[in-house]
Amino acid sequence: MLQKITYLTFLLLCFCGCSLNKMLPENSDVNASALKQIDTTTQVIESVHLKSPDGNIEVSVKNADGQVLYNIKAFNQIIIKDSKLGLRFLEQHGFDKQLVITSIEKSESKSRWEQPWGERRIVVNNYKELLLKLENTTNREKMNIRFRAFNDGIGFRYEVLEQKGFESVSIVDELTNFNFDENSTTWWIPAREWNRYEYLYEKTPLSKVKMVHTPVTLQLPSGLHVSVHEAALVNYSGMSLEKRRGGTLKANLAPRSDGLLVKTQAPFNTPWRTLQISKDAIGLINSDLILNLNEPNKLGDISWFTPGKYIGIWWAMHMRERTWGNDGIHGATTEETIRYMDFAAEHGFNGVLVEGWNLGWDGDWFHNGDVFNFTKSYPDFDIEKVSAYGKKVGVPLIGHHETSGNISNYENQLDAALELYANNEVKIIKTGYVADAGDIKRIDENGIAHYEFHDGQHMVNHHLKVVKKAAKHKISINPHEPVKDTGLRRTYPNWVSREGARGMEFSAWGVPPNPPEHTTILPFTRLLSGPMDYTPGIFELRPSELPPVREDMQRNDPKSRVETTLAKQLALYLTIYSPIQMVADLPKHYQNNMPAFQFIKDVPTDWEQSMALQGEIGDYLVIARQDRNSSDWYLGVITDEQARSFSIPLHFLEKQKTYTAQIYRDGPNADYDTNPYDIIIEEVNLSSQDTYNLSLGKGGGAAIRFIKHH
Ligand code: NOJ
Ligand code: CA
Repeated sequence: MLQKITYLTFLLLCFCGCSLNKMLPENSDVNASALKQIDTTTQVIESVHLKSPDGNIEVSVKNADGQVLYNIKAFNQIIIKDSKLGLRFLEQHGFDKQLVITSIEKSESKSRWEQPWGERRIVVNNYKELLLKLENTTNREKMNIRFRAFNDGIGFRYEVLEQKGFESVSIVDELTNFNFDENSTTWWIPAREWNRYEYLYEKTPLSKVKMVHTPVTLQLPSGLHVSVHEAALVNYSGMSLEKRRGGTLKANLAPRSDGLLVKTQAPFNTPWRTLQISKDAIGLINSDLILNLNEPNKLGDISWFTPGKYIGIWWAMHMRERTWGNDGIHGATTEETIRYMDFAAEHGFNGVLVEGWNLGWDGDWFHNGDVFNFTKSYPDFDIEKVSAYGKKVGVPLIGHHETSGNISNYENQLDAALELYANNEVKIIKTGYVADAGDIKRIDENGIAHYEFHDGQHMVNHHLKVVKKAAKHKISINPHEPVKDTGLRRTYPNWVSREGARGMEFSAWGVPPNPPEHTTILPFTRLLSGPMDYTPGIFELRPSELPPVREDMQRNDPKSRVETTLAKQLALYLTIYSPIQMVADLPKHYQNNMPAFQFIKDVPTDWEQSMALQGEIGDYLVIARQDRNSSDWYLGVITDEQARSFSIPLHFLEKQKTYTAQIYRDGPNADYDTNPYDIIIEEVNLSSQDTYNLSLGKGGGAAIRFIKHH
């Protein structure tokens, strides 16, 4: 019996993600000859190495004249040359120079854990760990650096220990450097510019980048792919990277309004600095490193969150058919919401987002942050009535809180606002922070206004505050104009999605709109950080060419249009992961094309497993996902502005089984520019031995559902 219990506990431990850390018997990778004494109590270690479990990735740390440097080798090549580590503080000596490594500890961990929802149910978390204990010899200030080496990359963080004089710590610089080959091809968006993360990706040699957001993805001259990002961004400022000499990228933390970078107290850990490393581009997508470096679920049971699809009184505003404010064509009316709820119920969607129901939208809502009221509605919207109707037809309201960047106005009303939604069956809230970067308004205890960055420490803390409070009401959060994702969905699984890149809305009014290659770059960059509420599924691909609903309503610039084929709109449900996916277009546009709409009705948003099969950054992606709630598989294929042919072995399907493949693919003349609606919908039988050959038009795509024969 005892044996059985022990065995069960062991299994449970392996499964729950509790790591079975074990001290390695000897530190064989330490440069032993370099152990010297600097005084009677402190040893100095000059260099130490750590390898990934499969041995392909190796980090080496050394002490060079009082500075601590690291380098990384992967697949027998140096990918990061000696690069600085360290932190500078306002009031302490800090960890920059005069450092010694006094001791090290090595351990390893093998575990698996289960995602309550996600791209895959079971996540394997195997790594080797190196803990370096550092001292500043000036006054013996102490800090640790913890490295983890996984088969898919490296994570490391600083851990500042509790010690005298560290009751308050102001960080004025983080020295972390990533010293790459400057000829590496880099996919990047600028940081600290007004439109936050909403830029088209640039592709340049590393030598040409300036200040970039992470994830930033590089292809090294050797062909290896590396993406630099961070994990578990908590009570710290978001890290951008600035280009220094040669190919060096240096951490550049978003400054607070008081000019400091981070204000905290010891003990504290910085977020993990992460490097996802892969031979091929798709390896980045198949990596779980960011999630693995986050803490396990702190919310416990979250069965109250249901992954799914939602429609909304939303695209009509972006197309300029309706308005958020109350000017005769107000979108958010009781009647319209009920109509949407009926449509959602008929087609099996589980939410209706309603934007513009609450007071504050009139006038210039970009700058209405001070006047938004989160509990009072316009006279033509009756929240009790719509939520009662939603309950009857089984379609909850999805809440909306646009703050226009005034977080104090929002926080002051947050409890009441959450309560109102909780009382009206709302399960998910989309929040919004429309404000230029650096213009988030925060009013302090003395009534003084301060202006913060969307990725500064105050916003990092604000988002978590909202997420935690919402969890108490069993509500999930989907912020737009957010702080970037760093995998916190593992710890707070009600933080279900976010925007944080150019989304579909840019195809309504953006000039230029999202070009075809945009969605072939996102999976290898922004989406490595986590789910995105991109809002796919647009069926009317030229919305600005429709006649206006009222003469005084202007249409958007015709240059903004949806630069995909219709089949690619379907494929985006597979190539962009989010547990909640919008069915973004207007019901009337779906009613015009029910055969293609069937795919959107069928496609799940929660997966048993996912595997990127083929892809190059900015060119194309082929991805297979298995439904979490059935034996169906799905395949999504997208291309950039080039027509392409694919040959896809279907080895992911269960062996010895036949599947009905319901195929939605570009027709022979499909072209995002000249003929976007050409689509072929067909059914064929396929099995795991088959190779599926497929041709896509320019800006095209294909979406396939495989249904297993029993
Ligand atoms: C910008 C968001 O991305 C969009 O989805 C929303 O409709 C507007 N802000 C208004 O909140
Ligand atoms: Ca391309």
